[in-house]
Amino acid sequence: MNILEQIRKEHSWLEANRAYDLRRGKPSALQLDITQSNLETIEMPFHMDGVDLRNYGDPEGIPSARALGTEILGTNANETIALDNSSLTLMHQTLACAYFLGFKSSKIDSVSKILCPAPGYDRHFKLIENFGIEMIAVPFQDDGPDLNAIEAILKKEKNVHGIACVPRHSNPTGHTYSDENVRSMFEMFSTLNNNFMILWDNAYACHDLKNTIEQTNANSLAKEFNLEDNLFHFGSTSKITFAGSGISFLSSSKNNLEVFIEYRNSLAVCPNKINQGLHVEYFKKMPLKKQMQKMKEFLLPKFEITKHYLNTLKENNLGNSSDPTGGYFFSYDSNKSNCHEIIDICKELNLQLLPAGSSFPYNMDPDNKNIRIAPSFAENDELEKSMKILTSVVKHLN
Ligand SMILES: Cc1ncc(COP(=O)(O)O)c(C=O)c1O
Repeated sequence: MNILEQIRKEHSWLEANRAYDLRRGKPSALQLDITQSNLETIEMPFHMDGVDLRNYGDPEGIPSARALGTEILGTNANETIALDNSSLTLMHQTLACAYFLGFKSSKIDSVSKILCPAPGYDRHFKLIENFGIEMIAVPFQDDGPDLNAIEAILKKEKNVHGIACVPRHSNPTGHTYSDENVRSMFEMFSTLNNNFMILWDNAYACHDLKNTIEQTNANSLAKEFNLEDNLFHFGSTSKITFAGSGISFLSSSKNNLEVFIEYRNSLAVCPNKINQGLHVEYFKKMPLKKQMQKMKEFLLPKFEITKHYLNTLKENNLGNSSDPTGGYFFSYDSNKSNCHEIIDICKELNLQLLPAGSSFPYNMDPDNKNIRIAPSFAENDELEKSMKILTSVVKHLN
């Protein structure tokens, strides 16, 4: 009997036409229903903060939406702007601005290289690759990017002009950077501050599911090391309310924000202020802490299910996995260099996983062992079954 036949025999519930999917960090439909039920009771605002939301104007976002950004990211209101529905788009526009116009202390060009802690967010890597910028993968230590590796790269390489980080509940490893780690990194970057871009994607800034270390805000740490003009701190409400229909935020020095808004004025006259107003009303009704508590009620059980199955692999020396305290992802490393095979066999059993290498720059996983697991979208019974498929495949192959 081949592996597929054996697994189908072990799991009689496997059906040929039932699909399972652990690819993307999307909220589940039930999680989104909570936001919908609150949103349905809110009247669409047309005026707010003395601003006519129906009209052009306020390219940096309305004050109340900017205040929401400061609450989520822990930044200062006068250094935080609120824009449209995607922080990823905002990061793209920021990089484009650095590329085409240049910020005071961040100018990207065709010889630039960017440090990429990996495993990391696949879309960051595609975004940077699309600019033709060389990416240099950096491994992790327990409390953030590997400092020795960064030091060695900075000694060896010229034109290192930035780093792309997810500092809290990192996608997919779950790393939350310690202040000590960030300070040591920033100290190294401070010698490069005439041209260096810290892309700080705080997508999971307030997404704790379990006790997680406190972090000093990156903007104040950047100031300690004269890096305030080098830090670009992003976030959004995508993983808080509706994914892809929220507000994104950028916090940076006033100087950088002015350059950025000037650049963005040629792309859009202003952000969608009606949507900003809706979100402001939403969080008046459902304060951020309460909303995150609700999200936790949906996500924590999914994390426990995922952890349970990954732990069975760990206990049997069949690989290693992250133990995230929040965010939306898990990362599994096979004990063999065979993630292609695991992913292919899961696909034959109708479980979709991201292609091998996705969490690395250029899709190149040096050990061919990493698989990202996104447990948020599947409802709990589907997630159980998905994890049963994955763990069975690993047990048979390894
Ligand atoms: C680290 C990270 N940044 C950004 C995003 C996308 O955010 P947005 O919808 O605001 O573009 C995701 C989505 O999974 C993510 O994991």
